[in-house]
Amino acid sequence: MNKHIDNQGMASPTSPLVKQMTALIQEAGPLTFARFMELALYDEEHGYYTTGGGRATSATSPIGREGGDFFTAPSLSPILARCLVRQLAEIDERLGHPPVFHLMEMGPGAGTLLRDLLQECLEQQASLLPRLACILVERSPAFRRRQQEVLATWQEQGVGIRWVDDLQSIPDGTLTGTLLSNELVDAFPVHRVRMEEDGLRELYVISRDHALQERWAEPSTPELTSFLSDLDVELPVGFTTEINLEAVSWIKQVARVLDHGVVITIDYGHTAQDYFAPERKNGTLMGYYRHTVTTDPFTRVGEQDLTAHVNFSSLALAGERVGLTTTGFTNLQHFLMSLGIDELVEGCEQESEAVRAAAQLLRPHGMGTTFKVLVQHKGIVVPTLRGLRHRAFFESVLATV
Ligand SMILES: C[S@@+](CC[C@H](N)C(=O)[O-])C[C@H]1O[C@@H](n2cnc3c(N)ncnc32)[C@H](O)[C@@H]1O
Repeated sequence: MNKHIDNQGMASPTSPLVKQMTALIQEAGPLTFARFMELALYDEEHGYYTTGGGRATSATSPIGREGGDFFTAPSLSPILARCLVRQLAEIDERLGHPPVFHLMEMGPGAGTLLRDLLQECLEQQASLLPRLACILVERSPAFRRRQQEVLATWQEQGVGIRWVDDLQSIPDGTLTGTLLSNELVDAFPVHRVRMEEDGLRELYVISRDHALQERWAEPSTPELTSFLSDLDVELPVGFTTEINLEAVSWIKQVARVLDHGVVITIDYGHTAQDYFAPERKNGTLMGYYRHTVTTDPFTRVGEQDLTAHVNFSSLALAGERVGLTTTGFTNLQHFLMSLGIDELVEGCEQESEAVRAAAQLLRPHGMGTTFKVLVQHKGIVVPTLRGLRHRAFFESVLATV
């Protein structure tokens, strides 16, 4: 990830999306930051994810090293899928090899993770492949089209793959298997808040002289204060942070549709203790544009990705309240090592894609530790999963702030 920080490309007041936001503000008043981020990423016509990062053709993607804005673990190499299939096989065993194993991926982006998982299943777990019922949950039409192209050959070979726009359309308790996501939750719109002497304030977006500007005011919903008190957090004065209420709603939906199985959430983020640590006193919100980090969300509105780190304690707590038991929590490095990534690259050339990708994913001061893996389960007796062999270090931290 390129760490060059660039805040030069200001929001053009003439961009259709900024014009639309300005009109909305004039009509209905200031937008919460979460609403602004929702429009910037998912506006039906101009949102970053709706348009596939503003790319005109499906041949280029905002995800990936070449021509993208950022890369993700699945876009690097199939090595993540190779490890995950080992974990899926163990979950399948714990579930007693059900006749239908639901593999649901939420926010699949370019569709490469499912493609690689299917290929790895074919090579490593041939008995699981015919029992798979794959569901892709994708809200962006541009990404759905990409996924359909990438997965067409698997569908032609008879693998069951269906798409849904959101979890609402899936009936209660109908899934048995694994519900997986990689870098989904960090793409949800977040509220930005700051503690001031006289209480919590929320960031709003206003329009002045046709330009978008910030204004701090009273919180738009009491849920923001409850979010913090649920985690026993008292923010110090001057602390700015993000609150992801959508992540809480999402995990409730995930719990609702799961009958028995495992939820694996991979993303960059922290326990609440680390999320609200002094080194994050300015929050975790970032923009990505052509592998450059920007700290100004009002730059290139609709053309840059916006993202905030995930508060895993909040996901675990919200899950516990709706019947998801926290199986364990670890970082990507420990997860992949536990699943035997070292054996998988043994014998590969040092310069091979697999070795380079493994090094990137395991990097102790990079993806290996910034990325975390939260595993939750429902309807199975406490599974001791292979990917969590190194979970002990993190387990106690997750429970308390
Ligand atoms: C950062 S990308 C990650 C893509 C992919 N998982 C990867 O690792 O390469 C986020 C993906 O989540 C999708 N997304 C965001 N919010 C969503 C939601 N509420 N429901 C379904 N998909 C969503 C986006 O359209 C995009 O495909």
